[in-house]
Amino acid sequence: MTQDEMKKAAGWAALEYVTKGSIVGVGTGSTVNHFIDALETMKEQIKGAVSSSVASTERLEKIGIQVFDANEVASLDIYVDGADEINPGNDMIKGGGAALTREKIVAALSDKFICIIDDTKKVDVLGQFPLPVEVIPMARSYVARELVKLGGDPCYREGCTTDNGNMILDVHNLQITNAKELEDKINAIAGVVTVGLFANRGADVVLEGTPNGVVKS
Ligand code: A5P
Repeated sequence: MTQDEMKKAAGWAALEYVTKGSIVGVGTGSTVNHFIDALETMKEQIKGAVSSSVASTERLEKIGIQVFDANEVASLDIYVDGADEINPGNDMIKGGGAALTREKIVAALSDKFICIIDDTKKVDVLGQFPLPVEVIPMARSYVARELVKLGGDPCYREGCTTDNGNMILDVHNLQITNAKELEDKINAIAGVVTVGLFANRGADVVLEGTPNGVVKS
């Protein structure tokens, strides 16, 4: 089974969590693209979606699913999104696709975070995948120096402007043993818009595509 087939299996498995008449929180990435394909089969039965990126919005609208502004909804039943890494406590690193800020907003609005992954995303300790941090452009150097003090090795993501007009620092060489604490510390640095650690609001359900089928945890 290829990695993409495992992503597809996880994406389609998330369909069972979609309730009729609801507005669905939709994330970003190649695994979510499979979920969006699956959602098309239910498009007459849902009200629409709140999306975490311009890319997902375009994809949803192309197949006729109405996309609502996050300000129009008080809460969402579910948010379906991928992850770059996830540990046994369901803390995640996200933001490989630079959509971390909107992802965190939609996750915060949602009662249940359903994380869809292939089996390469599970790790014991977060940090092998460089941790994305979205920063206000004028704070780039300051934030980078503060991240060095926290033990990281930040690299500017060349040619990347987020949907919010900001930039991304990818922090290498972190061994994240206390994800909630690190999330709080990085959030407290002036100029940080969002850190791609999803620990204070982690995943509630994980659907992992494996060569033996989808494993739920
Ligand atoms: C987007 O910013 C990320 O948080 C994605 O959720 C993450 O990169 C997973 O992407 P894939 O599903 O493409 O692996």
